[in-house]
Amino acid sequence: MRVIIERDYDAMSQRAADIVTELIERKPDAVLGLATGSTPLGLYRELIRRHREAGLDFSKVTTFNLDEYYGLAPAHARSYARFMRENLFDHINVPESQINIPSGLARDVDAWCESYERRIQKAGGIDIQVLGIGSDGHIAFNEPGSSLASRTRIKTLTAETVCDNARYFGSEEEVPKYAITMGMGTILEARMCLILASGEKKAKVWADFIEGPITAQVTASALQLHPRVVAICDETAASLLKRRDYYDHVERMTVLLAAALR
Ligand code: PGA
Repeated sequence: MRVIIERDYDAMSQRAADIVTELIERKPDAVLGLATGSTPLGLYRELIRRHREAGLDFSKVTTFNLDEYYGLAPAHARSYARFMRENLFDHINVPESQINIPSGLARDVDAWCESYERRIQKAGGIDIQVLGIGSDGHIAFNEPGSSLASRTRIKTLTAETVCDNARYFGSEEEVPKYAITMGMGTILEARMCLILASGEKKAKVWADFIEGPITAQVTASALQLHPRVVAICDETAASLLKRRDYYDHVERMTVLLAAALR
């Protein structure tokens, strides 16, 4: 795992945007896995800016979102479909037909989830999966105790997640109690995972994810088994990392090695 510590949220977002931009320029028909939440907003703002000002082209890109609240229609003000539209898709040139988001209204949930997995396969798999981390250690809605081999399915949200997300709904009662989410097995098949965190509130879970044991109690820790993970955070989220000096040293050495090999 490559751990990169940037000075603040904006620098973290720029660094993440550089990685996504490099992929799209190298592979115009890239498949992006996308996340909702407050963490990737800076990344999305930067991708929109690069689209507008530098012509970053999404016309051949395909996207798959991680999750959606169960019971919410795509047009619902708090649905993740709406979130993605407002914060990214309405501002770039990715065609509607290439956008994939789990359905919050599926009646035959198992069949729908299987079809989502097949769609990912048919698109050739995910090149970069963007991820945030929940305060309970989840990625997507793979709550503590989720099988680390799980596939797309319906999950019951933890009380902690409901409480964290009440800020978007006004009260905990209004937060949906279930979500359709990609599984840990689905996420681990992405060719690269790009996980982001910022702020002091994430410091403990960030250290648990990177330096703690691999455990279904912190599902993000399963990324330790993935061969290509880039974990980018700001200074405050990095504050409890024990091997901070080493991560910074690796960054400096990586730059030197690249220069030497040029
Ligand atoms: P956040 O959510 O980006 O809003 O902190 C992260 C998550 O719950 O996965």
